[in-house]
Amino acid sequence: MQSRPASVADLEKIALDKLPRAVRQYYEGGAEDEITLRENISSLQRYRIVPKYLIDVGPEKLDVRSRPIWGKRQNVPFAVGPSAFHKLAGYEGELDVARAAAKRGISMGLSSSSTSSLEDVIHAGKTAPNQLHLNLNGNHQRLEPTTSDWWQQLYVSNNRSETEAFIKRSEKAGYSALLITVDRPYLGRRLSFLREKFELPPHLRRTSGEKMSQDPSMHWDELIPWLRSVTKMKLLVKGILHPEDAALALDHGLDGVVVSNHGGRQLDAAPATIDALPAIADVIQGRIPIFFDGGVRKGIDVYRALALGADVVLLGRAVLWGLAAGGEEGVGLVLDIIAEEFRLVMALTGVTDITQIRRSTLGLV
Ligand code: FNR
Repeated sequence: MQSRPASVADLEKIALDKLPRAVRQYYEGGAEDEITLRENISSLQRYRIVPKYLIDVGPEKLDVRSRPIWGKRQNVPFAVGPSAFHKLAGYEGELDVARAAAKRGISMGLSSSSTSSLEDVIHAGKTAPNQLHLNLNGNHQRLEPTTSDWWQQLYVSNNRSETEAFIKRSEKAGYSALLITVDRPYLGRRLSFLREKFELPPHLRRTSGEKMSQDPSMHWDELIPWLRSVTKMKLLVKGILHPEDAALALDHGLDGVVVSNHGGRQLDAAPATIDALPAIADVIQGRIPIFFDGGVRKGIDVYRALALGADVVLLGRAVLWGLAAGGEEGVGLVLDIIAEEFRLVMALTGVTDITQIRRSTLGLV
């Protein structure tokens, strides 16, 4: 990296210039006409924030920690989301992501299609020192370290004994929650993928969920009790867009939901996640945490999602761009930039604590 990138968009540009075409298409792409992919970003950008002033926003007053998630406040209200095959970006893939996140006490969701073993990822993270420095117009603040949490994303396979073994392995390694991806009973039609089959290069292996392909027959009444019977980890369903599914998640005693459309890679008519979020938050009413992803590239986006009801915002491609641009350092830059942007937007909108970020401060254009 030459001059210091100042935004995730800067890092994205560096990443796209560096990545081989096939990897670029795999990371960037969405399903079919990519309408949902584009709208994740354009819908976020439609929300304006109405600021309030003459509030004491001295640097020591700004508390960027999340609302409590199962009783614990995260250092920041965002985390690394699960995305497949980090070693395609080069460097040490998931291990670099884990180090960058853990050094900042930022939590990480690991894809079950990872190119590093789930044990190695948590080990890389757990051995990294923990510190989070935030810079606000040259005003540096070091936050009290809180350790990261580790969450395992899961594709439930129709070979349940294999899935069970994978879940137990994740629990034993130290993962505290399962993000059960439900929006991929079949792979969406990603056109570049259909034109030119995408395969992992021979030097990379899927080291976690080797043979697992999603079970398209799984359903609420069968899946959730079965998962409860095999693990004590927190259970979240990832890919919720319909308020009725949020109600079903509550009925089935889930520990959280992830509002997501898989980064526009599955149903190319799914709503932008930011548009689906308020109705889901109205159903959940703070009873379980709401995770959110889709199109988040800036601290302002984190703020928008929190205002509309999210508790934790997950970063998908933003982390991949950082990784491809500069390995652990690049991911660290992405996390620092988003944290700094978020803290600044709190200050510029007159909010000192996350609980003050309300829907009423947002306006649509
Ligand atoms: C993903 N996503 C994903 N989700 C999941 O549950 N398991 C997975 O293995 C993957 N893999 C994956 C690979 C790549 C290259 C991308 C871009 C995405 C979806 C991911 O968790 C998340 O929902 C989106 O990435 C969020 O959108 P943004 O932040 O990328 O716009």
